[in-house]
Amino acid sequence: ALQRTFSILKPDATRRNLTGAVNAVIEKAGLRIVAQKRIQMTKGQAETFYAVHSARPFFDELVEFMMSAPVVVQVLEGENAIATYREVMGATNPANAAEGTIRKLFAESVGENTVHGSDAPETAAIEIAQFFSGNEIVG
Ligand code: CMP
Repeated sequence: ALQRTFSILKPDATRRNLTGAVNAVIEKAGLRIVAQKRIQMTKGQAETFYAVHSARPFFDELVEFMMSAPVVVQVLEGENAIATYREVMGATNPANAAEGTIRKLFAESVGENTVHGSDAPETAAIEIAQFFSGNEIVG
């Protein structure tokens, strides 16, 4: 079914001027970018977004990284968008990512892994609502 997912082009992508290159892979996979904005994440936004990882040893590093340069937040729409985007992103650790995936093509490390994508419909809805109001999403 037609579905929406939430995506972030992370600081390692904006720093290396790769947002267009990543978007080209997203669009080639049949996903439509129905909302997009470039923002500087605040500490509060990053901590809220990654609250589920707050007990992990890499949490502070992750929050710092997400604030280290602008990010591009997006809503992607398509058939089975959540699973489709996770396939296009590739494994969290780029060392394990399949050929042709965004992380295989661009990611530098497990921490600086270029993109985020929602893992389930419930989280997609929460993540989209954290960064976009309804009238900013134009399908
Ligand atoms: P993401 O899909 O955005 O969700 C959680 C993020 O934590 C993940 O991508 C990685 O960027 C980051 N992450 C996961 N494992 C590690 C790790 N071992 N060290 C640093 N960051 C990590």
